[in-house]
Amino acid sequence: MLSMQTLFTSLLLAGSTFSAQVAAKTASHNGEKIAPKVFIVSMFEPEAQAWWNIPEFDLLSHNITIPGLSPLYPDVHCTKDYEVCQLITGEAEINAAATVTTVAFSPLFDLTKTYFFVAGIAGINPKRATTGSATFARYAVQVALQYEIDIRELSSNYSTGYIPLGADYPDQYPTSIYGTEVFEVNANLRTIAANFARRANLSDSTAAKVYRANYANASAEYKAATLAPSVVECDVATSDVYYSGNILGTAFENTTKLFTNGTGDYCSTAQEDNATLEVLLRAAVHKLTDFSRIIVMRTASDFDRPYPGASATYNLLYSDQGGFEPALENIYHAGIEVVQGILQGWEKTFKKGVKATNYIGDIFGTLGGQPDFGPGTAQALEESGAYKKRSLESRLRRRG
Ligand SMILES: *[C@@H]1O[C@H](CO)[C@@H](O)[C@H](O)[C@H]1NC(C)=O
Ligand SMILES: *[C@@H]1O[C@H](CO)[C@@H](O)[C@H](O)[C@H]1NC(C)=O
Ligand SMILES: *[C@@H]1O[C@H](CO)[C@@H](O)[C@H](O)[C@H]1NC(C)=O
Ligand SMILES: *[C@@H]1O[C@H](CO)[C@@H](O)[C@H](O)[C@H]1NC(C)=O
Ligand SMILES: *[C@@H]1O[C@H](CO)[C@@H](O)[C@H](O)[C@H]1NC(C)=O
Ligand SMILES: *[C@@H]1O[C@H](CO)[C@@H](O)[C@H](O)[C@H]1NC(C)=O
Ligand SMILES: *[C@@H]1O[C@H](CO)[C@@H](O)[C@H](O)[C@H]1NC(C)=O
Repeated sequence: MLSMQTLFTSLLLAGSTFSAQVAAKTASHNGEKIAPKVFIVSMFEPEAQAWWNIPEFDLLSHNITIPGLSPLYPDVHCTKDYEVCQLITGEAEINAAATVTTVAFSPLFDLTKTYFFVAGIAGINPKRATTGSATFARYAVQVALQYEIDIRELSSNYSTGYIPLGADYPDQYPTSIYGTEVFEVNANLRTIAANFARRANLSDSTAAKVYRANYANASAEYKAATLAPSVVECDVATSDVYYSGNILGTAFENTTKLFTNGTGDYCSTAQEDNATLEVLLRAAVHKLTDFSRIIVMRTASDFDRPYPGASATYNLLYSDQGGFEPALENIYHAGIEVVQGILQGWEKTFKKGVKATNYIGDIFGTLGGQPDFGPGTAQALEESGAYKKRSLESRLRRRG
């Protein structure tokens, strides 16, 4: 055992020595840790490029290679003064978790005062906003963390094939808790960030205008889809599965409501945010990050469901929605206002932080406080299988 431990320790040391060398070579911050005021979280190249070659700052001044980052995106990028940095997770939940873990636990950085700014494109619920819009989330909900039965084998009285873990029906609260179902971030900070973004002139495209007009035939339900792009405060769903259509769209609207006890307002859908938030939460437990300093912005690139009369397949695969370009442009237009707002207000407001008056954290209350969603800390832990469980037995029973 001792030798295992020694081996482990020396591996750790080897790891940090390597990191230190990387730091010395690329960061040379006089041995000081890099303490960015804003860390932009991009998910793939187009989202990252939205921030490059802009007049405000040069994120490509420092490329810092860190072991553990995505093979596609091996570097963290920082401005000359290291005030703003950028990481690129790679797409979907596994990449997001692994990349953010690498950065959040890296000895290269002091992230205790850093604002993490998730800025990516997303699908959009036409009931809540239109393509090109910038949405700011309070809740991130892992909507596909459920059982699934293919619709062709489903009893006819089920409204969807997704059934919460440990439940019997789609609308039942899950009784088997993994802990990543819902994350709640600082609502006051969200509003400040959204107001910064409202200073921007958002891009639109002719193709997007033409396409969104199709939603006008519907009832008043899709009014938001037909308007010009805007800044909207509404929540994000995380799912590795890139879904499309009315039934899944509605099903995950329902899941968001269910998991957040009625407060969540599903509007955008992407593949990473819960994974990113889980890591930032784990780092916050060790005082490496501050969970009250997270902003989740998603700009809308495509609708999550078709306009009336069109099919889900058409919506997903064949439609030219015209939203991709404006969504990428608006990462910059809306996002730069947020970054500049934080930098300009640093001494007055952001250095000391924006106090959260809502609950922030996960379903377990890991960071303290009582979640305003979920069954309560004690019950959630019990249902997680972390302690001896009834729910573990029932899970096994269900599996068996
Ligand atoms: C950082 O990498 C980018 C390409 O990813 C490159 O354009 C840029 O010149 C690099 N910066 C430095 C300082 O080497
Ligand atoms: C995912 O993130 C959303 C908010 O962005 C949160 O409401 C949800 O709880 C998170 N779920 C998981 C499984 O992390
Ligand atoms: C569906 O019908 C079955 C019986 O065929 C019944 O046991 C079950 O409770 C029903 N489920 C729902 C969600 O109503
Ligand atoms: C938005 O457009 C208006 C009118 O053209 C202009 O006055 C304003 O400076 C623009 N705002 C930004 C942030 O570019
Ligand atoms: C919906 O509206 C669009 C644009 O006004 C029109 O071209 C289209 O024919 C309408 N579709 C239906 C099914 O009414
Ligand atoms: C969503 O919830 C509504 C209201 O309870 C219900 O009528 C609808 O069938 C649900 N949709 C799906 C796809 O589960
Ligand atoms: C959330 O809803 C569940 C299921 O209805 C309930 O057991 C739980 O007490 C609610 N939690 C809060 C914080 O209201």
